[in-house]
Amino acid sequence: MTGFPSPYTVAVIGAASGIGKATAQLLAQQGVDVVCMDRDAAGTEATAAAIRAAGGEASAHQIDVTDAAAQAPVWQAVLASRGQLHALLNCAGITGKTNLKAHQVDPANFVEVFQINLLGALLVSQAVLPHMLAHNYGRILHIASIAGKEGNAGMTAYSATKAGLIGMVKSMGKDYAETGITVNALAPAVIRTPMVDAMPEAQVTYMTDKIPMKRCGELSEAADLISWIVSPSCSFTTGFTFDLSGGRATY
Ligand SMILES: NC(=O)c1ccc[n+]([C@@H]2O[C@H](COP(=O)([O-])OP(=O)(O)OC[C@H]3O[C@@H](n4cnc5c(N)ncnc54)[C@H](O)[C@@H]3O)[C@@H](O)[C@H]2O)c1
Repeated sequence: MTGFPSPYTVAVIGAASGIGKATAQLLAQQGVDVVCMDRDAAGTEATAAAIRAAGGEASAHQIDVTDAAAQAPVWQAVLASRGQLHALLNCAGITGKTNLKAHQVDPANFVEVFQINLLGALLVSQAVLPHMLAHNYGRILHIASIAGKEGNAGMTAYSATKAGLIGMVKSMGKDYAETGITVNALAPAVIRTPMVDAMPEAQVTYMTDKIPMKRCGELSEAADLISWIVSPSCSFTTGFTFDLSGGRATY
């Protein structure tokens, strides 16, 4: 059963849009104090403002997950104001250019995808881990992808970085397994968000055709599962990649 003690603070990166935005709103409805973060300053402020307008607690902060130095003072201020940060949900991610075979991939675009999807995930984890270790409690959840488990044709950089993220989470889960900190990933198939809407239709059709349930996932289905994973109730699972793929991955 999902339940949050009070106070319970969750930082949601990627809160301006899609899965991060929907989950930030659900968490706030469940009584969580939400720290909304995104490189899109206006978008993250809009999410926090909507939460506050609905009676919830939220603040908004601009961060770029790839820039450790610029993030540091933001995290410092967040941790100082809250006292304890209980969970980190990292939804920052990009697909990069898709519908391309590997020989057509621009290495510069590959590096950009790597820096956000994988290096960024390490940097934001490093920003909160010393604090969580000091409190002997934490929930870290990174959003990976079915592409990282299976490899989506036409998505070399995305598939590679999400596979790397799954591997990183396996390792980090073991690093902190004897503390109160869990580190997990979630691997969705296709959920209609601005990220998916920006992809070539042929690429989206390729991905949705592979889902046995023959439909896309709903934002509420992602948010419900995420809210449980970042809650105290999800206490005996770490280093794991949760599935959200309508039956595409059964492992
Ligand atoms: N939507 C899907 O079908 C799907 C499927 C599998 C995995 N995912 C993953 O879920 C996560 C969320 O995706 P979404 O569909 O909600 O996408 P989205 O584009 O709607 O939201 C992603 C958010 O991340 C932010 N962001 C991007 N780069 C950033 C950076 N450097 N620093 C800080 N913020 C940054 C964007 O501004 C945006 O608000 C991503 O990691 C994505 O790869 C999504």
